[in-house]
Amino acid sequence: MYRAIRGTRDILPEEMGLWHRIEDTAREVFELYGYGEMRVPIFEETTLFSRSIGKHTDIVEKEMYTFTDRSGKSLTLRPEATAGVVRAWIEHHLDQRALVGRYYYIGPMFRYERPQKGRYRQFHQIDAEIIGESHPAVDAELIEMLFFYLNRLGLKRANLMLNSIGCPRCRPGYLDKLRRQVKAKLTELCSDCQSRSERNTLRIFDCKNTNCQGIINELPAIEDHLCSECSRHFQQVQSYLRRFGIEYKVSPRLVRGLDYYTRTTFEFTYPGLGAQNAIMGGGRYDGLVALLGGKETPAIGVAIGSERLVLALKEEGISPPEAVSTFLVTVGEEAFQRGMELIRELRHQGVFCLSDYQGRSLRGQLRLANKLGCQAVLILGEDELKKGVVTLKMMSDGSQQEVALDLLPSTLRRLLYG
Ligand code: HAM
Repeated sequence: MYRAIRGTRDILPEEMGLWHRIEDTAREVFELYGYGEMRVPIFEETTLFSRSIGKHTDIVEKEMYTFTDRSGKSLTLRPEATAGVVRAWIEHHLDQRALVGRYYYIGPMFRYERPQKGRYRQFHQIDAEIIGESHPAVDAELIEMLFFYLNRLGLKRANLMLNSIGCPRCRPGYLDKLRRQVKAKLTELCSDCQSRSERNTLRIFDCKNTNCQGIINELPAIEDHLCSECSRHFQQVQSYLRRFGIEYKVSPRLVRGLDYYTRTTFEFTYPGLGAQNAIMGGGRYDGLVALLGGKETPAIGVAIGSERLVLALKEEGISPPEAVSTFLVTVGEEAFQRGMELIRELRHQGVFCLSDYQGRSLRGQLRLANKLGCQAVLILGEDELKKGVVTLKMMSDGSQQEVALDLLPSTLRRLLYG
């Protein structure tokens, strides 16, 4: 028997209501804030990701699904979508075409990580990116939108962690200091940290090793080494957040696992999800457009982990509203044939209707309708056929009435859909 590949999962219809809820709400909220949907390809040239995310990151060093296609080109299944959106933005000259560079996208991402609750090898993100804005109010507005989105979903307990990781002007000085301190502790660190200490010192903060964590917590905080512009930007972001009444915690070790970040970085966690409790993360990436060959352009964005939102909704006991449905019970061949026409008419009139195709008895069909949770049953037998009616039975109170066939769609819409 074939099984889904480790780290991938089937999303079955019974869970799909929650997926629709998070995706539909994202569309609704993000469009209200001026974002337009963009869909970028699932695979891109490998170097697009290694240049954007950084060669010495966990994602690029250990987690990418990279393969050579038949023409010998190295391609990678996208581990995230920001790089693809920026590529598209440059490729389509969107700086000249779009008045407001706000995009969102929804889709699968791929990372070869160790699977566990809330962590998969194929997972889904909902992303929002703002390209071309540097104002700190934009950072705060993005965060405010995310809280609004979570509230709409009914998720009211998210915690926000915030940091600033500076810019190419102030970060090198900080990194020098960091490197010196790390060198002094080098032998106590794991082999990953040792190899990163010289090549990409900031990435030491991504290490999950408990022994390294103790040492990492003693390292200097970047917040104390920001240049005056970065410091002012960070203060202003916080002042807008306070203005919006948003609570947050400054977290000096929050450098995020991707190299493209500058200034603001943030993550939302949700209680009750276990070890993988980060439901979304993002930040500024003011240097990425230029790094990929475009003009110097500031940008900021976020990616929401859909699987983790679904877990959070389940944790909160939030389920999608039950679908309204009707079941057509037929008795006898003639009624079945007429029933097939009737069910077609009902669907064309916007009524969700199911039926039996296996010749079940009247009782068997009623039992099935009950199991399916149908709100109404329509019975079409010989008597009804003669009179040109159906018997409509409401499952909530067992009440029955005869309804003329031509009045059926409007009656059902009134009774079931309000
Ligand atoms: P990220 O922090 O790598 O950021 O991922 C964002 C979110 O995706 C995480 O907070 C988590 O909810 C979800 N996620 C990541 N990996 C997995 C996994 N293996 N299984 C399930 N969920 C996962 C980014 O991807 C950046 N591109 C975000 C961004 C957009 N920054 C600027 N714009």
